[in-house]
Amino acid sequence: MSEPRLRAKELDAADGLAAQRAEFLLDEGGGGSGGEAVYLDGNSLGALPAAVPGRLEDVVRRQWGELRIRSWTEEGWWTAPERIGDRIAPLVGAAAGQIVVGDSTSVNVFKAVVGAVRLARSADTAAGAAGPARDEIMVDATTFPTDGYIAESAARMTGCTLRPVPPSGIPDALGDRTAAVLLNHVDYRTGRLHDLPALTAAVHAAGAYVVWDLCHSAGALPVGLDEHGVDLAVGCTYKYLNGGPGAPAYLYVRAELQDRFDSPLPGWNSHAEPFGMRPEYAPAPGALRGRVGTPDILSMLALEAALDVWDGGVTIEAVRAKSLALTDFFLECVEAYVPEGRVECLTPGPHGERGSQIALRCPDAGDVMKRLIERGVVGDFRHPDVLRFGFTPLYVGFADVERAARVLAEVLAEVLAEPGT
Ligand SMILES: Cc1ncc(COP(=O)(O)O)c(C=O)c1O
Repeated sequence: MSEPRLRAKELDAADGLAAQRAEFLLDEGGGGSGGEAVYLDGNSLGALPAAVPGRLEDVVRRQWGELRIRSWTEEGWWTAPERIGDRIAPLVGAAAGQIVVGDSTSVNVFKAVVGAVRLARSADTAAGAAGPARDEIMVDATTFPTDGYIAESAARMTGCTLRPVPPSGIPDALGDRTAAVLLNHVDYRTGRLHDLPALTAAVHAAGAYVVWDLCHSAGALPVGLDEHGVDLAVGCTYKYLNGGPGAPAYLYVRAELQDRFDSPLPGWNSHAEPFGMRPEYAPAPGALRGRVGTPDILSMLALEAALDVWDGGVTIEAVRAKSLALTDFFLECVEAYVPEGRVECLTPGPHGERGSQIALRCPDAGDVMKRLIERGVVGDFRHPDVLRFGFTPLYVGFADVERAARVLAEVLAEVLAEPGT
């Protein structure tokens, strides 16, 4: 047995989270060649938690089918957005009462960015600030595209200019015209983890408000929203929180800002008295202000069931420790199996700068990923030349990692050997 295979056995034997794998329905025989697939795409769509199908069956057949409208109250449908928000809260370092679940990440980015500009301007007005009105939104220049598109529209609507700046350049670019800064916690392409505490402090020192997109960090590493004084945050639940395809996203509004949070989408669900049916809008207190319209109950309750995997003592710190061990081991195996220079690692080496994925660049990445998937190693390809491998510590083991690197080396050799590739 090769050295990495032996090492994988040892690491799996010592893995305190190994038993969590049983909480997921991972395919048997879905690996193309007959084996179980190595699923390294949980940073795109998390695997299915075993509790979800039964819970959804109950929600559909009994709650919807039999109780029908009564379920809004009797089964807690109406309060699901804030109840499930409170279950996500500890995973991102937030006290209860600051997160509501609903809508997509894109929609929540819009609420948060416009809300942040309004917060910055209302703070200046309250302080009697003499300087120019804040009229600039800064966005992470390497952001996932949807955040950039929405920030651009939010800028037009609020009379701001949009300024794309790489995260490392943000402290120097901030000024007294900056109203809001939108940042991705982990870069979706490279897996780089940005310095949330330092960047948040820099934004605050400029009198601006920060919005963090946690899509690639929530459920994979500690975020510390309250500890670091983050103003607003958004994130999806279909990656490391395993909520399912199109599962609802969430919005965090720091408790001290909630009274001043002025949502650009004030729907009836965030009204102080939703069933008063009044023509005038009066916002509900607290995190509820982040709600808009009728929540998507089926997806929301699938997410609620998916969050059960965090019960029973699984900590985000343990998940982070295993995530780093998995990504370290993957890099070790790639070094052992893949000829030097064949791939370039885009993910930073230092642990403090790494999320839960490894991104490798190679010129034939699209073809390589297609072949990997055919052989049961499922990652994804990001245009134009990036192979992404996501590591979800709750269901990925070290033998998976070793196999993925070994098959990658085989595929890379095969692609090189074929004429014309
Ligand atoms: C950082 C980031 N933001 C936003 C999104 C997508 O947003 P939505 O859930 O609205 O499709 C993704 C999707 O992968 C993402 O990686």
